[in-house]
Amino acid sequence: MQILVSSGAPSALRAGALVVPVFADGLLDGAAAALDGELNGAIAEVFTAGEIKGGANEIALIRTNFGEVKRVLVVGLGNRDSFEIAALAKYAGTAVRYLGKRNVKSLAFALPVEALHRSAEAAAAIVEGALGGTIDSTTYRTEPDKPIVLESLIVAATAGSHEFDHHSLERGVERGRIIGQAVNDARLLAFTPANDMTPRHLAEKAEKVAREFGLAFHALDEDQMAAKGMGSILGVSRGSSEPARMIVLEYTGDPGSSEKLALVGKGLTFDSGGISIKPAENMHEMKYDMCGGAGVIGALEAIAQLKPKLNVIGIVPSSENLPGPDAVKPGDILRAMNGKTIEVINTDAEGRLILADALCYARELGATKIVDAATLTGAMVVALGHAATGTISNDDAFRERFLAAAKHTTERYWPLPLYDEFSVTVKSEIADLRNSTGRAAGSLTASAFLKAFVADVPWIHLDIAGTAYTDAETAYLAKGPTGTPVRAFVAIAEDLAKSAAHATNGSGNGATVAAAAAVV
Ligand code: BES
Ligand code: MN
Ligand code: ZN
Repeated sequence: MQILVSSGAPSALRAGALVVPVFADGLLDGAAAALDGELNGAIAEVFTAGEIKGGANEIALIRTNFGEVKRVLVVGLGNRDSFEIAALAKYAGTAVRYLGKRNVKSLAFALPVEALHRSAEAAAAIVEGALGGTIDSTTYRTEPDKPIVLESLIVAATAGSHEFDHHSLERGVERGRIIGQAVNDARLLAFTPANDMTPRHLAEKAEKVAREFGLAFHALDEDQMAAKGMGSILGVSRGSSEPARMIVLEYTGDPGSSEKLALVGKGLTFDSGGISIKPAENMHEMKYDMCGGAGVIGALEAIAQLKPKLNVIGIVPSSENLPGPDAVKPGDILRAMNGKTIEVINTDAEGRLILADALCYARELGATKIVDAATLTGAMVVALGHAATGTISNDDAFRERFLAAAKHTTERYWPLPLYDEFSVTVKSEIADLRNSTGRAAGSLTASAFLKAFVADVPWIHLDIAGTAYTDAETAYLAKGPTGTPVRAFVAIAEDLAKSAAHATNGSGNGATVAAAAAVV
C-alpha cells in the first residue's frame, strides 16, 4: 500500500473517496466548509436532513462528481470541546471499514481544524487507525469476508489557508505506518486460536520478527528454565503436553548505557484454569490470554524501526494452562527463580505464576526499569470495564511519567493504588506467598504478588484484561484483539529515551542540549 501526503486541491486528489470530519455542533469549518462550498451545500444538507448528527464515528456518504473523487464520506468526531488527536484513529478506522468493505481502494483523509497545530501527530493517528481498520476476523471461514485491500491512503492537507509542514506530516505518516503495522501484527498473533498458537509457535513468530527487524532473540526451553530455577512457570506448564518457552527479544539502542527497559508480557496461549477449571461460558476467549506477550513482540517490532536511543528487552513467558495428568494441584508449592516459595491456592491464578519467573529473569538480564502487561484478573474488568487499563506501580514518579507518555496514544490508562496491606494479604501461612486471596481488590492483590519478584527495580504493571480484546465488532475495529498495549509500550520507551538523551547531553554537547530542550 502507498501512503502519501497531499497538499493539492480536493478536486486534484487521486482517490476513490475523500473522508471529511465534522463535529456534533454541526458547524462546518476547515476542509468541511471548503468542500461544502464545492459541493453546493451537500455537507450542510446531511445535517439538516438529519442523516448525521456529528456524533463519534457516525457516517454519511455523499456521491460527488468533481475531479477523480467520486465519494465524500462525512465522519463524525463527536463533541468539539473534548476532541483529542487520538480520536482520529477511530475516524480513519471507521472510514476504512465502511468504504473498504464496499471496494473503495484509495482513500484521502482531511484533517479537522482542531488538529492542524499538531498535524504530524494527527497524520500518525490517521494512518495507525486506517491500518487498524483493515484487519478481518473471518479468515478461518472457507469463504471469508472480502478482505479490505487499500491501495493508497492519502493524508490530505487541504484545509483552507493553513500552511502545512510537509516534512513533519511525512514523518507522522511514517510513524503511523510503523505503529499501525506493529499493532496489527500483535493483533494477528493474539487473534490466532490456541491450536495454531502454542508457546512454540509464539517463539517462532518472535524469532521471525527478530530476523526481519534486526533484533537479538533467544528462547529458553523447559530444561533451560529448570536449570535457572524457574519452578513457577514450569509448574503452570506441567498440565499441558505443549512445552513452555521463555521468549526474549532485545533491542540495543544505546550501547554505551547500562540503562535497560524490560517490557514483559503474559503469553498464556490458552487458559482453561487448570485443575481449578473455568466455567465453559466464554472460556474460548482465553485464547486471548497471550495479548500481553503479543504486545511485547509488536512493541519491539515498532521500537526496532523507530530506533529510540535506549536499550529495550522484551520478555514473554509462554505456556498453556491445562488440567493434564501432571498438572499442578491446589495446595502444591512451587519455587520461583528468586527462591521464593508459592502456595498454589487456585491453579487459575496462573498469570502471576509465569510472570514471577519472567520478572526475575528481566532483572537477571539487567533490567533497570520494568513494565509488564497481562490479561491478569477478571476483577480488572469489574473495576474499569473495557474503558481503561489499570496501571499499578511500586514507583509513583515512574507511573506518572508512564501515564503522561501514554496519554498521547490511542490507548487509555488509569492509576490504581498498591498499598502495603495488599502485600500482607498475599502472604501464605505455609509458604512465602499464596497465588490467590479473597475477592477483595483482586487486581491489586495480584499486583502485590508480582511486586515480590521485582525487588527494588522501578516497575509498572498493566492489567489489560478488559482492554486487550473486544467481544464485538465496532465501527472502526474487527471483533477480537485491539493491540493494547503496543502503543503505550512504544510511548514509554520513547519517553525514557528522551531523558537518556538529556543525561548524555549534560556531560558535553551543547548543541544537542538546546535541541533537546526545545522538544520538552
Ligand atoms: N486470564 C485470567 C484473567 C481474565 C479473566 C482475563 C477474564 C480476561 C478476562 C486469569 O488467569 C485468571 O483466571 N484470573 C483469575 C484469578 C483468581 C483465580 C485469583 C480471575 O480473575 O478469576
Ligand atoms: Mn487463569
Ligand atoms: Zn490467565
